[in-house]
Amino acid sequence: TAATDFDFESYITDIPDYPEPGVVFKDITPLFADANAMRQAITALADHFRGRGVTKVIGPEARGFMVGVPVALELGAGFIPARKPGKLPRETVSISYELEYGTDTLEIHADALEPGDRVLIIDDLVATGGTVAATGKLVQNMGAELIGYGCILELAFLNPRDALAASGDQELFSLVKVS
Ligand code: PRP
Ligand code: MG
Repeated sequence: TAATDFDFESYITDIPDYPEPGVVFKDITPLFADANAMRQAITALADHFRGRGVTKVIGPEARGFMVGVPVALELGAGFIPARKPGKLPRETVSISYELEYGTDTLEIHADALEPGDRVLIIDDLVATGGTVAATGKLVQNMGAELIGYGCILELAFLNPRDALAASGDQELFSLVKVS
């Protein structure tokens, strides 16, 4: 399909000095507000991983839900939310990871994955890679198979692939790379 030739970047807006001075925020809401651009993005992500036997997609709260759910539907896979602590009602497994200042924690339900599951991790944006790398480790800790990572936008200048390499050589596929 033409999806990979689509100009996704033109639907992502730079917002200077947000959320703090010196930071350029990448706003993907225009892409989601455009029905065709959104469909192109979801289809391109799903097409890349189609035929790889993905049984579950995990999306980290909150923007990972927006991208992960439609990709899961498109692949005929289930969706598992990875959430901030205390949000899931049943027994959870969790993982903590380093931020620039402090740490963060993500949880999924303890029974969400089975050993035979083939898992794709989807988020909107991969910056340092901390969020998706931690989610990947959680998948591996649970004994499921990690197929790869997909996102709309990769901030390549933050070297997220270094963070991902620490937990294996699974592929990161991104629709737009910012160098
Ligand atoms: C943003 C973004 C990714 C993560 C990327 O989420 O949606 O999940 O940061 O950064 P990293 O690669 O350095 O980990 P954020 O924590 O702002 O929360 P949100 O999705 O709930 O808006
Ligand atoms: Mg997020």
